[in-house]
Amino acid sequence: MSIILLLGSGGREHAFARALTMSAQCEQLFIAPGNAGTAMLGTNVDVSPNDLESIKIFVLENMVELVLVGPEDPLVNGIVDFFEADALLKHIPVIGPSKMGAQLEGSKDFSKNFMKRHGVPTAAYASFTFAKLEEGYKFLETLRPPYVLKADGLAAGKGVLILDHLQEAKDELKAMLGDAKFGKAGEKVVIEEFLDGIEVSMFVLTDGKNYKILPEAKDYKRIGDGDKGLNTGGMGAVSPVPFVDATFVKKVEEQIIKPTIRGLAEEKINYIGFIFIGLMNVGGEPKVIEYNCRMGDPETEAVVPRIQNDFLALMQATASQNLDKIDFKIDSRQLLP
Ligand code: AMP
Ligand code: GLY
Repeated sequence: MSIILLLGSGGREHAFARALTMSAQCEQLFIAPGNAGTAMLGTNVDVSPNDLESIKIFVLENMVELVLVGPEDPLVNGIVDFFEADALLKHIPVIGPSKMGAQLEGSKDFSKNFMKRHGVPTAAYASFTFAKLEEGYKFLETLRPPYVLKADGLAAGKGVLILDHLQEAKDELKAMLGDAKFGKAGEKVVIEEFLDGIEVSMFVLTDGKNYKILPEAKDYKRIGDGDKGLNTGGMGAVSPVPFVDATFVKKVEEQIIKPTIRGLAEEKINYIGFIFIGLMNVGGEPKVIEYNCRMGDPETEAVVPRIQNDFLALMQATASQNLDKIDFKIDSRQLLP
């Protein structure tokens, strides 16, 4: 029997809470801070996922045995390293990557360099600071429109601009680097080649040695009807995705998942948890748009219900690096035509 603490407050956390409480081994589930949905499944706790000292006190007082981290901020802030460095907490497993591993999401420059080092297919790019503004303009001149500009740091999915005109792209680059349009997140800007294709997300659960490929999902981000309007963090998601077939998944596994897992191990980056791979399908070939160091919100709501294993047992096997012993089963029913 297990006492679990789940961090976060979104639809993702509701989906996790539902899956965890379906396990006979779930003795008690706390969610910090949770939401109205999670309150129906466990006990919401008024603690911020970023308040590490308060989390420590809560975990010790309530004899929490497993922590599952939903959002990226606590991971980028180093919650895993915090547990490992604390004599009272270090035996308590946290599902999520180390601070260094979370840089796959926390810094676009880091993740693009990581992809380059390990031969993971992605858009051509270069990154610039304010001191290199003129070089940034020159790089833009070598590209064809549309132009893709990305703030380096965390910007809740809103730090990406796609622009049709060169002058507009130059002006925005200056606004990001010179006028702090995206605050600190935009102190460095990644300029990318535009990928023309259809987007899909794949999810991997890794224990640092082994991995399982979770069901894919497609999320819909733009706020207006007809896929128009500004990007949001995500309006809704579906899984399965009709255009993702076994051939495409195999390409993603060979060209992206294996080199990513191998790369993390080679660079001695401690990574236990979910890797969310945002992909563009460019004429049948997968290219990585971004990594996230966690599951998607709302994608988890579509993905996790398709996993037929006991979800708590899956988390425990991840924490103990025994994922290879899990007979992983996905509901393979497809959408009706
Ligand atoms: P990101 O925050 O990197 O996921 O980017 C946000 C959104 O911008 C993505 O979901 C894509 O729709 C779009 N995007 C990002 N990079 C590119 C690219 N290189 N080519 C085309 N679209 C992109
Ligand atoms: N739905 C997109 C994300 O979780 O980043």
